[in-house]
Amino acid sequence: MDWNENYVIWLALLSLISLVWHLRRKTSYRRSKLPPGPRGWPVFGNLFDIGSLSHRSQEALKQVYGPVVWLNLGFVKTMVLLSAGAAEEFFKNHDLSFVDRFINDSMRSLDHHTISIAFGSYSTYWRTLRRICTSELFANKKINSTMFIRQKCVDELLSWIQNEVEKSSSSRIVVRDFVFSASFNIMGNLMLSRNLVDPQSEISSEFCTAFAGFQECVGRPNISDLIPWLRRLDLQGIRKAAEFNLAKAIEIISEFVKERVTERQQKQDLSSEQDFLDVLLDYRGTGKDEPAKLSEFQVTVFIMEMFFAGTDTSSATIEWAMCELLQNPDQMKKIKSELAIVVGANKKLLESDIENLPYLHAIVQETLRLHPPAPLLIPRKAVQDTNFMGYSIPKNTQVMVNCWAIGRDEDSWEDTLSFKPERFLDSNINYKGQCYEFLPFGAGRRMCPGVPLANRMVHLILGSLLHHFEWELCDDEKILDMRETMGETSNKLELLQAIPKPKST
Ligand code: HEM
Repeated sequence: MDWNENYVIWLALLSLISLVWHLRRKTSYRRSKLPPGPRGWPVFGNLFDIGSLSHRSQEALKQVYGPVVWLNLGFVKTMVLLSAGAAEEFFKNHDLSFVDRFINDSMRSLDHHTISIAFGSYSTYWRTLRRICTSELFANKKINSTMFIRQKCVDELLSWIQNEVEKSSSSRIVVRDFVFSASFNIMGNLMLSRNLVDPQSEISSEFCTAFAGFQECVGRPNISDLIPWLRRLDLQGIRKAAEFNLAKAIEIISEFVKERVTERQQKQDLSSEQDFLDVLLDYRGTGKDEPAKLSEFQVTVFIMEMFFAGTDTSSATIEWAMCELLQNPDQMKKIKSELAIVVGANKKLLESDIENLPYLHAIVQETLRLHPPAPLLIPRKAVQDTNFMGYSIPKNTQVMVNCWAIGRDEDSWEDTLSFKPERFLDSNINYKGQCYEFLPFGAGRRMCPGVPLANRMVHLILGSLLHHFEWELCDDEKILDMRETMGETSNKLELLQAIPKPKST
């Protein structure tokens, strides 16, 4: 080997060393601009730092890394917010930079995310749907005008339970079965003027199965979400199952929509009581860039999403509240006495009574603090590179606001793990999206638009169950297992079984 050859080899080696050094410097420089977080493994990233209950694992990371934590979930860059302060900065000053949703593979099924209100990106179409929600469907006037529908569904719920108790020898009931059906029935009546919970009807059971199947797919951990280029292979078959269930649900709802369109064509006078479906079919856009009207498919997907967004969340809240009260007899006594005084021992609870029941409100708030149905809200996505609290957050980063951990944060709450509705009495804290220590409905532009309806449903169903029956735990389960699941909605892992006894008067 002559001098020239040696020279070339040394030069090549030096160039390689300087390239590696330069790349390392560049990545560690980038890393130092990201929030702190645990070191990850190649390919898997921080998957092993996060268990199946990710909201709990994230809370544990806060002790080490602080309130803003960076995770690589497979190849998905993720920022987690774990304190009221970080959430406030996020929603007050950066809402628009993170306004899009980070959507998983199941949510892409049949491309329905492109016209979805919950998963859709920030667009004129999405703003139109939000406006329809706030000014038409969930406006106070509309909500008040549908009071009788919710009352009818709750009356039915009470008689379902009464019948069940009379016909069964054990006298215990699975609470979720009843409250889920009642919430579902309210949604069906408000949107389609139909009793979808009818044990005699094949369609209703098919719809419930498809609905539950799709929800399950959306909440299941999916390798396609962690390693996006494996999406096409759908290794766990989750996308296939999601599309199957979604197609079924769409098919059923679209039949109802078609039927209504025909009915309306034959009817001259459309001025009678309008349900959500009529409002959507009547929609005419006038603003610049607004759609002139909604297509039948858009209406179908919107209706279906309302079922998805409103049913499980409301029923989970009611089941958790029942669990907490059954384990806290003093608070059970207090609410029973408030109901007896305000409503009257032998009268039924009316929606108009709700505003006079502060302890019932406090119970719902305390339940949502400890058991928010969406512990990580619905994850957002950075629409552009953003400087957030001194960190450089790259475009497309997924953002999770862990409202479960924030609701249990000792910097914001005292005696955080105890169920104490009293903390909300004489307090200004509410879930309207401005109190960042308490965000069960989220905040900012993507905050839950269904709050006014959820409020009525949850208080009316819970209050009626408590007022109408005396509740007891079963002898074989006096101490409840309070663990939760993590899916699209966080439900109680073990179904609550309890004994409803008619009130002694
Ligand atoms: C206790 C009951 C409920 C809870 C706890 C709840 C909670 C939430 C949460 C946390 C979000 C995400 C907010 C965010 O990302 O900042 C959300 C979004 C949403 N909720 Fe609710 N919700 C409930 C009931 C309802 C009801 C009854 C409806 C309507 C029928 C509804 C419709 C929606 C819709 C359409 C979205 C998506 C909004 C968007 O992305 O722009 N929710 N909800």
